[in-house]
Amino acid sequence: DLPSRVTIWEVGARDGLQNEQTVVPVDVKVEFLARLADAGLTTLEATSFVHPKWVPQLADAADVLAALSPVDGVRYPVLVPNEKGLDRALAAGVRHIAIFGSATETFAKRNLNRSLDEQYAMFEPVVTRATAEGLAVRAYVSMCWGDPWEGPVDPAQVAAVATRLMSMGCTELSLGDTIGTATPGHVQAVLTAVTRSVPISAVAVHFHDTYGQALANTLTALRAGVTTVDSSAGGLGGCPYAESATGNLATEDLVWMLDGLGVRTGVDLARLADTSAWMSTQLGRPSPSRVVRALRG
Ligand code: HMG
Ligand code: MG
Repeated sequence: DLPSRVTIWEVGARDGLQNEQTVVPVDVKVEFLARLADAGLTTLEATSFVHPKWVPQLADAADVLAALSPVDGVRYPVLVPNEKGLDRALAAGVRHIAIFGSATETFAKRNLNRSLDEQYAMFEPVVTRATAEGLAVRAYVSMCWGDPWEGPVDPAQVAAVATRLMSMGCTELSLGDTIGTATPGHVQAVLTAVTRSVPISAVAVHFHDTYGQALANTLTALRAGVTTVDSSAGGLGGCPYAESATGNLATEDLVWMLDGLGVRTGVDLARLADTSAWMSTQLGRPSPSRVVRALRG
């Protein structure tokens, strides 16, 4: 059984760009976001309020939000790791944030400079304050399937981290395959473990396509009842703190599959592919998305 409609959580402007070495100008980021909204995407993860030295590409977070003209019916969530990030996000008028925890000790240290226990201590006041301010809060969990330093990750460990983050008051959970090593059986195992304590309606999946498994994994998740899928226009993306992380599932590849299955997304594939073709000229290299290359190559 498949859902009749899927919400696409578009991460192109954040996960898509955060790994780019050359800083993309603010006006290009703003045009990217405007074109994504124009293509029918309604959730645009816009940027991150992380330490500017850790992710220089997104040091302009406040400038991007100030320059963009928000479209009615579109939400613009941002990543926030700590209270300093929350202060900056609130000052920029943000209404929707995402914290991002790690399922593994090693990646917590590499990505957040915290142990697993310390990551909870960092996120807790962020979620409490954001919720009190009426913000929506998503919880990401990274390394839900494989970790470049620790290898395959136990689904029970993922469930424990997810449960802990959700118990802080987050209302949405995104399970991240940061390095793209997940395969469908393992996806099912993690969803089974996590949904013992988190309702499936709150669960999103976030696949990177390093090993070409992202669509198969997505279909598995949809059959398990997931209705929110993260993807990145043109298949851009990767995490600078995760060895071997490559691009996210391309939004075009996802929409091609969902269109074929008769699952509604509200996305105009032609407009989206035009946007990714335009972005690839901005970045100076072809899109890694198979569908973008087939339609616009
Ligand atoms: P830290 O060095 O431990 O920070 O970094 P600190 O708390 O010790 O503070 C040190 C200084 O940084 C202080 O300044 C703070 O004010 C400042 P000082 O008092 O020394 O002058 N500072 C900040 N400044 C601006 N904005 C902030 C901020 N925080 C502290 N938010 C920290 C800890 C968490 C900040 C750092 O490790 C960090 O920014 N990490 C983010 C890394 C990142 O963005 N990774 C990519 C996103 S995760 C991802 O891609 C995975 C995902 O896609 C899902 C998946 O694929 O699995 C979501
Ligand atoms: Mg990611």
